[in-house]
Amino acid sequence: MISNMKNIDFYIDAIRSRAEEFHINEGRPLSYFIRTFGCQQNDNDSEISAGLLEHMSLEAAPNIEEADVVIFNTCSVRENADRRFYGNLGNLKTWRSEEKQRRIGVMGCMPGQDTHNSVLKESFPYIDFLLNAGDMGNLPRALYESSSQKKHSIVDLTDQAKEMTYPSLPVKRENKHRALISIMSGCNNFCTYCIVPYARGRESSRDPLVILAEARAAVDNGAKEIMLIGQNVNSYGNDMRSKGEKDFPSFARLIEEIARIPDLSVLRYMTSHPKDLSDELIEVIGKYETIEAHIHLPLQSGSNRLLKKMNRRYTAEHYLELVNKLRSARPGISISTDIIVGFPGETEEDFEDTLRLMETVKFDRAFTFIYSPRSGTPAADWSQNVSDLDIQERFERLLDLQNKHSVESNERCLGKNLYVLVSGLSKTDDETFSGRTKDDRLVNFSLPEESETDDQILTARGKPLSSTIADGSEVFVKITKAKAHSLEGVFVGLA
Ligand code: 5AD
Ligand code: SF4
Repeated sequence: MISNMKNIDFYIDAIRSRAEEFHINEGRPLSYFIRTFGCQQNDNDSEISAGLLEHMSLEAAPNIEEADVVIFNTCSVRENADRRFYGNLGNLKTWRSEEKQRRIGVMGCMPGQDTHNSVLKESFPYIDFLLNAGDMGNLPRALYESSSQKKHSIVDLTDQAKEMTYPSLPVKRENKHRALISIMSGCNNFCTYCIVPYARGRESSRDPLVILAEARAAVDNGAKEIMLIGQNVNSYGNDMRSKGEKDFPSFARLIEEIARIPDLSVLRYMTSHPKDLSDELIEVIGKYETIEAHIHLPLQSGSNRLLKKMNRRYTAEHYLELVNKLRSARPGISISTDIIVGFPGETEEDFEDTLRLMETVKFDRAFTFIYSPRSGTPAADWSQNVSDLDIQERFERLLDLQNKHSVESNERCLGKNLYVLVSGLSKTDDETFSGRTKDDRLVNFSLPEESETDDQILTARGKPLSSTIADGSEVFVKITKAKAHSLEGVFVGLA
């Protein structure tokens, strides 16, 4: 972790002294709040930012209004994330001017893109600093520079190289039982609709020994579940091997090594790209119980013509072949996917190819998106021949079909006793717990009305139930109801 190296330590020490001084003078700690948009990569970057801020003696604030430092970790993969963020930022103008120590930082996928960079600077001049996606190492410097200047101007560090002094920065995990670990950053694929390669740069794989050490430390600290993240985990190490590091491990070897960590219950990973999913990896997925019985394998479209225009570099036939291999290597594996509707030039036939492929695969879950043009990507310049009304109609047909498949898939769980890793109380009521199965199904469950078996659990009813079942508990749940997006059930016993 943090040790004795150059610049970053200077900034860390300087911010820590200021935070400590603030605490003494104001009688309260300097506080921060991070608002995260988008994917797991951003979630993990926010966890690292929080870890780093606390390492510098800042403390978490309960909400934006009560914080001294507010950081937005932004996403630009589709338009609605942009809009929500700009709305949030607009609301903070007065807040920023009320107290002189207040700071606003923007990181994640937006500040490094030219268009967003200009909008941020021109329309929101009260911002204090801008950082590139994944550049948490420069956060101490950004804070230092923005609090050292006499006259306010935006500290824009998006033209700086990523601060890489430390292979591992401190991390404050949202959920103690669940560790997100980034194995690589960036993407080389340039799918023609996607902004990620422009926002996050080229693929860069992290050192496998560092990843392994982080995974072991997480498990030692109580994590039951690890999620390995990268835009395309299947190409892990390609960058290093092409630079001559012949022995740099593949993703299959890496995940296998992590799956062997004693006391780890569930190992998840995402996202897989169909063009790079190797037989070697499929074999490993079939071999280790600890590896989740699930894969997220974005299809995007079932039309070969559109897959080509999207630059996905696989065909519908190849995708089906992968599905068959996965299902024979790991019987019962659940498969989730991403599908885009209304890509420029999508004809009714293209769309029906997608529906047909869905009928053949019968995805257990799917994330469905209406195509959103992203300026700077090739597809944004292509003419859209489909009307909004037709796109909406297709989208609804797609949702109906997927909901039917999701329900059918969940119905296969009815009556079974499934292993569930608990993530806490349900969002909607405090007598219901939530968690996920090994094959990544969301389960809400309650305690039995009367239980002869476990007095301890009965006494916990109505009190903080978390005293008996909490984040990270491993339980068996008898499934009593199947819905499209979740299962319901009753607690049977501890696993
Ligand atoms: N429009 C709609 N959906 C998109 N995705 C990525 N870019 C776009 C876009 N421009 C979807 C893809 C990807 C998921 C994370 O987001 O389906 O797999
Ligand atoms: Fe975007 Fe394609 Fe890379 Fe996924 S693989 S992040 S969709 S460019």
